[in-house]
Amino acid sequence: MNGKVPVSLEINGETVECLVAPRMTLADFLRQEVELTGTHTGCEMGVCGACLVLLDDVPVHACLMFAVQADGCAVETIEGLTTRQAIADLQGNFHERNALQCGFCTPGMLMSAYGLLSAGGMPSRDEIRDALSGNYCRCTGYEAIVDAIETTARQRYATPAEERS
Ligand code: FES
Ligand code: FES
Repeated sequence: MNGKVPVSLEINGETVECLVAPRMTLADFLRQEVELTGTHTGCEMGVCGACLVLLDDVPVHACLMFAVQADGCAVETIEGLTTRQAIADLQGNFHERNALQCGFCTPGMLMSAYGLLSAGGMPSRDEIRDALSGNYCRCTGYEAIVDAIETTARQRYATPAEERS
């Protein structure tokens, strides 16, 4: 067993059971063991936001916790949100507004935007910027990202979820 410990968790709706090294971070576990490489690792110290995932529906930095700490929890990654079409409109607006260049920060940006937009309402640009304050982008200058999120919020506000297909 090489000191590894068993973990059982739900990832993007599927049960995953395996042995994991006690000091492996959740981010490394998702990328290396589960091959969900949409969760990026940048700073690995909770600053850049590239590694954000949902843990029991709460955004967390996957670089700051060990995989064993997620035992028994439900994890959703950017792949999960994408597969269940939860952010298709947001991704479309990122594309329309050229809100990404290298794309390294984009999964984390989308995670933060998902959290903000899930709260409902029509956030102001300052509120959008505030929601992104833990996400670093080295390429875009942020304006297009804020534009894309604002456009999505406006569209969702104009068309409630139950009326969207
Ligand atoms: S890699 Fe986790 S916050 Fe930067
Ligand atoms: S698009 Fe390159 S870091 Fe944001």
